[in-house]
Amino acid sequence: MAPEGTSMLQEAKRHVPREFDRVARGYDALSAMNPGYAKHLGWSAARLDVADDADLVDLCCGTGLSTLALKRAYPNATITGLDASQGMLEYAATKEELTGVRWIHGDAMDPAAAGAVGPYDGILMAYGIRNVPDPDLCLRRLRQLLRPGGSLCLHEYSVAGSPWSRCVWQLVTLGVVIPLGTIVTGSSQIFRYLRRSVMAFDSVPQLEERLRRAGFVDVRTAAMDGWQRGVVHTFCARRPRE
Ligand SMILES: C[S@@+](CC[C@H](N)C(=O)[O-])C[C@H]1O[C@@H](n2cnc3c(N)ncnc32)[C@H](O)[C@@H]1O
Repeated sequence: MAPEGTSMLQEAKRHVPREFDRVARGYDALSAMNPGYAKHLGWSAARLDVADDADLVDLCCGTGLSTLALKRAYPNATITGLDASQGMLEYAATKEELTGVRWIHGDAMDPAAAGAVGPYDGILMAYGIRNVPDPDLCLRRLRQLLRPGGSLCLHEYSVAGSPWSRCVWQLVTLGVVIPLGTIVTGSSQIFRYLRRSVMAFDSVPQLEERLRRAGFVDVRTAAMDGWQRGVVHTFCARRPRE
């Protein structure tokens, strides 16, 4: 993956799914070492606030940890999981609790082109929007995928604008995530990209404004607890009822 610099970071985004192929087998073990990871995905899934039998998409579903959060929050939902990493998807598809989920290998920049045409009652995108090359276009397309009144939750890191949050993020990534991730997966690239991409990503007001610009309403941000307070957030929004 690419070295430092904004345009280099943009270029690196093209290779993110391929990098996740390389770390797929160790992803769940690493996430299990991160206190609050599963609980916070559960909070974001619940914050979609849709009916129990809703039609839902988990965009950038990875190995299915966020899909599991959706399944547990809405046991009777119809769920589609989409990801651009074949390695992550293959691992997700082995999980018994996720039997019945429709898996799609595709680009979150254009889910409809990959077969996720909707309309959906809700979309969860956990650790995804930061990685797409054009977040504004992606959000406009996500709005079109939703039914009128449909709900979107972006579960994402955002530390810009808060010196404390940036400091916590640097300590956690340089002290724990990069060394541990390298030991567990044998590769440091994706973890170094993670640190840089979060440092370069939107502040909370900037991402909220992106959502409004893309035509979403009822935009609000909800917090996590633990070390993730002020670092990870749920950005909730709705497609207007029209
Ligand atoms: C950090 S993982 C998150 C997985 C899961 N949502 C979770 O919360 O555990 C990010 C995922 O986004 C996927 N991804 C990155 N860019 C993508 C894109 N443009 N289209 C689809 N998936 C993408 C990666 O392949 C990876 O599986």
